[in-house]
Amino acid sequence: MSKSMAEPYVPALGVPFLTRYYDRVLALTLPERELKERLAEQAVGGLLDGGRVLDLGSGTGTLTLLLKQRAPHAEVAGLDGDPEVLEVARAKAQAAGVELDLRQGLSWEAPFEPASFDRVVSSLFFHHLRTEDKQRTLAKVHELLLPGGELHVLDWGEARSALMRLLFLPVQILDGFAPTNDNVRGRIVPLLEGAGFVSVEETGRRNTVFGTLSLYRAIRANAP
Ligand SMILES: C[S@@+](CC[C@H](N)C(=O)[O-])C[C@H]1O[C@@H](n2cnc3c(N)ncnc32)[C@H](O)[C@@H]1O
Repeated sequence: MSKSMAEPYVPALGVPFLTRYYDRVLALTLPERELKERLAEQAVGGLLDGGRVLDLGSGTGTLTLLLKQRAPHAEVAGLDGDPEVLEVARAKAQAAGVELDLRQGLSWEAPFEPASFDRVVSSLFFHHLRTEDKQRTLAKVHELLLPGGELHVLDWGEARSALMRLLFLPVQILDGFAPTNDNVRGRIVPLLEGAGFVSVEETGRRNTVFGTLSLYRAIRANAP
């Protein structure tokens, strides 16, 4: 589904009435836990003494919680456009006895101070954004990161076989072709480089029943 005037973002499962099933659908259809744990380890495994971490497009907060559990001394924030998923995330944080700074807002106008995060992390989020929205979101992420700060992403990646391309079609039908084409055509790395990130790499890949999920790392260069 494409974004509308009422919702300037694509909801978690493409259409609002499916949002309540999001956690169950993900757990049943994808190796969610394995991949989010890999992402959390990659992103905050080295943040032993604290720091600030932002989970962008944080949804129901599964990754946000994992980040806090993996880096307990860090301040962890989450941002999402959808108040419904934020309520689920708040309930999970409360049940886990964990403090998270969960805010509502759009990714390209994230309400945080420039150069205030050591890490920005995101899972299954960038494929919700059309190319120009990916670009303005990446410009914002670049602004939010400290020099030398890192962006870590888990999302649908390049389909390297006809089967993976075919399996990805249901995701495209649900979330829209315009936002998902960059992912499946392998354009995430060039988009990250185009936003000024350095040392951009795809760090891992996992084929699933809905196509290929990729992990990426990108660094905000130290000021010249
Ligand atoms: C597929 S869900 C992923 C949620 C979570 N990161 C996860 O891995 O389970 C994508 C999330 O991005 C949010 N979203 C989409 N576009 C957004 C935007 N431009 N700004 C903020 N949130 C957005 C949706 O509301 C949804 O919760």
